Amino acid sequence: MQKEVTLIAGDGIGPEIIISVKEIFTALGVPITWEEINAGIASLDSGGELIPQSLIDSVNKNKVALKGPITTPVGKGFKSVNVQLRHIFDLYQNIRPCKSTPGVISKFDNVDTVLFRENTEGLYAGLELYDDRLEMADSIARVTKKGSLRIVRAAFEYARKFGREKVTIVHKANILKWIGKIFLDAGDEVAKDYPEIEVNDRIIDNMCMQLVIRPEDYDVIVTTNLFGDILSDLCAGLVGGLGLVAGANIGDKVAIFEAVHGSAPDIAGQGLANPTAIIRSSILMLKHLKLNSFAEAIDLALNKTLADPQLCTADLGGASDTQQFTKSIISNIN
Ligand code: NAI
Repeated sequence: MQKEVTLIAGDGIGPEIIISVKEIFTALGVPITWEEINAGIASLDSGGELIPQSLIDSVNKNKVALKGPITTPVGKGFKSVNVQLRHIFDLYQNIRPCKSTPGVISKFDNVDTVLFRENTEGLYAGLELYDDRLEMADSIARVTKKGSLRIVRAAFEYARKFGREKVTIVHKANILKWIGKIFLDAGDEVAKDYPEIEVNDRIIDNMCMQLVIRPEDYDVIVTTNLFGDILSDLCAGLVGGLGLVAGANIGDKVAIFEAVHGSAPDIAGQGLANPTAIIRSSILMLKHLKLNSFAEAIDLALNKTLADPQLCTADLGGASDTQQFTKSIISNIN
């Protein structure tokens, strides 16, 4: 039976890498039909809304979406469409697995972390004020007990389900005492229900240093919104770069899958984009939809391609463009 999924191509390198996923799904006969509706600058440019109501209706109907990156103007302009979508659908879990890939040249070959980033609160709660008279800005980091409990529980549940041994809670409770305490208390409360899982905590600055020295010490990591945003790019750097790392935004009703990286305007339209991160996001999506055999087939073909540096895109030292890389994956599908 065909399953309908909302497809948001995004902008920048978004449309180029989304084509890779579509071609691979077609070649493999994945039973998915796409309902394509864009948002952000691409939607504005074609006379639509920043976030069209038709997109919201489509995601609510299909419950699952695959999304390309969407540009956010820096220091001016509209609020991040990415953040708005997470708020609209209450996608409180941002899950970002980061694992070394055999054959891919990177700083480490032993990284295997899964980052749980709280996705709706913290400094991304949208509570920002500018006082023109005082030339002063306030940004409020809102952290709630309910929000902390649900993301920490999601991390522990994941650890239990997938046989992970340790959960590390990352915070800044030495300085941000209240929001840090709420998050740490949530960790203490939830950890009691998972006695088989080791738990520890790290202050964010130390955590950054630990990860670039001994990433193998870390397994499941759970943290607040801004720290999670920064740590996930840091982890991507450990395994070969942003072109490789997938993400899932999960709520109780809806899930939107997207790469960790942004719209990469510096390489857009040049055939240089590595589609691995969005392909891996689509693999997470297929597992979410319980289409595991398709997920595994794509994963095998992708890893086989990545194992040959010549077949890779320029960010990994290879000579292929986005289309050639995609064709290699398709030819590696059994
Ligand atoms: P970025 O992730 O777009 O790019 C950072 C660097 O990584 C660039 O040098 C880029 O060329 C490279 N890169 C990223 N993805 C790549 C890929 N698939 N293949 C090869 N190289 C890749 O981050 P940046 O430049 O800070 O942000 C650009 C725009 O993207 C901004 O407007 C930002 O707000 C937006 N953004 C959107 C996100 C989303 O849609 N979820 C997430 C992060 C940023």
